Amino acid sequence: MKAIQVHQFGGPEVLALHEVAAPKPGPGQVLVRVRAAGVNPYDTYMRAGTYAIKPPLPYTPGSDAAGTVEAVGPGVARVKPGDRVYTAATLSGAYAELALAQEAQVHPLPEKISFAQGAGLWVPYGTAYTALHHHGAARAGETVLIHGASGGVGVAAAQLARAQGLTVLGTAGTPRGLELARREGAHQVFDHSKAGYTEEILKATGGKGVDVILEMLANVNLAADLKLLAPGGRVVVIGNRGEASINARELMSRRASIRGFTLWAATPAEAAEIHAALAAGLENGTLRPIVGKELPLAEAAQAHREVMSSGAYGKIVLVPGSA
Ligand SMILES: NC(=O)c1ccc[n+]([C@@H]2O[C@H](COP(=O)([O-])OP(=O)(O)OC[C@H]3O[C@@H](n4cnc5c(N)ncnc54)[C@H](OP(=O)(O)O)[C@@H]3O)[C@@H](O)[C@H]2O)c1
Repeated sequence: MKAIQVHQFGGPEVLALHEVAAPKPGPGQVLVRVRAAGVNPYDTYMRAGTYAIKPPLPYTPGSDAAGTVEAVGPGVARVKPGDRVYTAATLSGAYAELALAQEAQVHPLPEKISFAQGAGLWVPYGTAYTALHHHGAARAGETVLIHGASGGVGVAAAQLARAQGLTVLGTAGTPRGLELARREGAHQVFDHSKAGYTEEILKATGGKGVDVILEMLANVNLAADLKLLAPGGRVVVIGNRGEASINARELMSRRASIRGFTLWAATPAEAAEIHAALAAGLENGTLRPIVGKELPLAEAAQAHREVMSSGAYGKIVLVPGSA
């Protein structure tokens, strides 16, 4: 089978397509024929060798695959060959024609959700759900600012928060991204590339501030976020690419807090809750993964360049077997 492999950490050019042996499912394992693989920013940090998790080389990147079950190992009861599934992490990597996963990492993909959409489920929606509910403790009637609402996590958060009864404010850096954020759930949108946009956000809350901020770029925004919080407000740090300097007094006067998390450290109970919520949202149509771009598997390097560029529009996915 064909798979992208990383033989040394480095820039996007280290992602190369190789012919490798097809994995075989052992006890409790499932082999998935990958029809689409999601590209997430953390795939690029791991490829660069700068992430908290440094896999042994060579490795195949990717945690989010969608496809059909090709084969199951002994003892697997939840899925059977031919079932449509999405993965929440894999054992062998998602950027491949076949991916091996533990049975617990494989979840049913509803008929009405395409494989490309299924490849944009676990990391984006899992992150958005856990940020909003487990870490942000967001409640219906509150106001949430999604600081970066045009990308994979932001679109998911906009859909979840809107369906949950929150007032949703979202930011993006392009007209296209702003339009997407509004269409997918934001009541009001703001351009984070324009000077003075944070004053506009505060104005939109009548000066009261927002209850929860889901922050995609804390190193740039954290200090300003604190000034946008309502009393008791929470900033949930989802993404961060450097250091930030803050005035902690902004927290004290508001009895506010800054929280951070990584999705991969979610507890089994949290993960089960996430999958149940995703199943319900996909079923009732409130969750609709947006695929902005599909690229052939061989163009993984290009996908890594694009996912780190501005102008996000939902998800970028890789499609094995396409030209
Ligand atoms: N903690 C975790 O477990 C976890 C899980 C998933 C993702 N993440 C992190 O969360 C971040 C977002 O992930 P993603 O998959 O949504 O990435 P993505 O699809 O590439 O989207 C990035 C988002 O950040 C926005 N952005 C760019 N500049 C910004 C600024 N100055 N202020 C606010 N937002 C800005 C982009 O908007 P424009 O392009 O429109 O400017 C876009 O909405 C990444 O840093 C990722 O590593 C963390």
